[in-house]
Amino acid sequence: MAISNDVIFRTINASEIDRAFQIESHGYPPDEAATLDILKYRYNHAPSLFLGAYLSASDYLIGFVVGTLTSSPSLTHESMSQHEANGKTVCVHSVCVDKLFRRRGVATRLVTEYVRRMKEGRYERIALISHDYLIPFYENLGFKLIGESKIQHGE
Ligand SMILES: CC(C)(COP(=O)(O)OP(=O)(O)OC[C@H]1O[C@@H](n2cnc3c(N)ncnc32)[C@H](O)[C@@H]1OP(=O)(O)O)[C@@H](O)C(=O)NCCC(=O)NCCS
Repeated sequence: MAISNDVIFRTINASEIDRAFQIESHGYPPDEAATLDILKYRYNHAPSLFLGAYLSASDYLIGFVVGTLTSSPSLTHESMSQHEANGKTVCVHSVCVDKLFRRRGVATRLVTEYVRRMKEGRYERIALISHDYLIPFYENLGFKLIGESKIQHGE
């Protein structure tokens, strides 16, 4: 069943960080999920890079993309752990959809909207680290595979 037409996109509010954390912690294994404090850091430093997907009828958050900026040419632990306001590369840390709403095109529309918004900004590129099995998902959205990341994220 497709629901993606009933979904709207907007930057999240501070009061929705707890809900984003719930989605994040249910979406990733414990060693990969961001903590609540990390999500708050990202929201506080780069709120315009924290885009939510909402059920239009209830304004209920069902997924999000969150990023920060770096001036580093590559994604490293350092470049991903702090927001550099003058950076031109958007590091996407998480693309996460509530399990109840997956495989209905929500992430496809969410990332498409995120990329559209970032292209309107002053950014040069959007970078992320993907699991192998999601490379086709990102390539389908216009991302190009650069190579294997040196970052060990999770086990
Ligand atoms: C990855 C994730 C964001 C996808 O969200 P979604 O809303 O279900 O994605 P979509 O419905 O837009 O999927 C579009 C296509 O991407 C591919 N895809 C989506 N999830 C996939 C998965 N788990 N494995 C392989 N391909 C997948 C499929 O080709 C899918 O099309 P199909 O449903 O017609 O087969 C979601 O599964 C999630 O939140 N996972 C946990 C967090 C995570 O791992 N995020 C990615 C970090 S790299």
